[in-house]
Amino acid sequence: MSLSDTGTPTALLVGIPLAEIPPPKVYYSDDSVTLYHGDCRAVLSDMADGSVSCVITDPPYSDRTHKNARSNSGKASKGNRILTGVNAFASIDLDALGAVMAECGRVTSRWVVATMDYHHVFTYEDAPPEGLRLLRIGVWTKSNPMPQISGDRPGQGWEAIAFLHRTDERPAWNGNGRPGVWHGATVPDGDHPTAKPLAMVADWVRLFTDPGDTVLDPFAGSGTTLRAAKDRRSQGHRRRTGRALL
Ligand SMILES: C[S@@+](CC[C@H](N)C(=O)[O-])C[C@H]1O[C@@H](n2cnc3c(N)ncnc32)[C@H](O)[C@@H]1O
Repeated sequence: MSLSDTGTPTALLVGIPLAEIPPPKVYYSDDSVTLYHGDCRAVLSDMADGSVSCVITDPPYSDRTHKNARSNSGKASKGNRILTGVNAFASIDLDALGAVMAECGRVTSRWVVATMDYHHVFTYEDAPPEGLRLLRIGVWTKSNPMPQISGDRPGQGWEAIAFLHRTDERPAWNGNGRPGVWHGATVPDGDHPTAKPLAMVADWVRLFTDPGDTVLDPFAGSGTTLRAAKDRRSQGHRRRTGRALL
């Protein structure tokens, strides 16, 4: 398997030796932002331990969630396929996610904050990625949730947020005793089918980092985290899926 240009979302190159992943390219760089185009694992493997202050990210969800996903925010067109929402890019399984999250735990000096499939997050209570511990599961409740089409059960209406921290450091944040709960609308399809609300991500930047810190987003997508971290230094990784850079 390789990064394809067929209009079909590529799998996350699970099981592909790192040496065979095409080398990432720096697409943009200035004093405060670096954006790579390429598989995040190739960039992460070259990064030193503790070289960023915080990871704020949003990996793909499980295959189960991708298959069941319905979007109320429009369509993403890729090649001759019409893909909606989360199905515009490949899902990730627990093993592949664990490997990337363990790398995130190695390169951060403190927190890894990640919007994640709740099926994945709950497994981290008993079996967190290597080097990390799960300190809290937060929620984003949606003000415009997708209705339950079948009408036979409550709709989902929320997403899980994993607050993970390096095991060898004491946690601290700028939020004192406030709860890990955010409320807001989903972002309409534009540059990306699953962009996260800028205000929520900007809140995380303020709460989990300080001026001068570096924020990393290995699954940068449309770059919401990089925009949210405009008062910090930041690095993001974006991968080609099908014909689009998503
Ligand atoms: C949930 S989306 C992130 C959306 C982003 N938070 C935003 O606001 O635009 C996950 C992204 O990870 C990308 N992705 C998947 N595997 C990747 C990899 N190995 N390296 C870099 N990006 C990857 C997908 O193409 C998708 O754009």
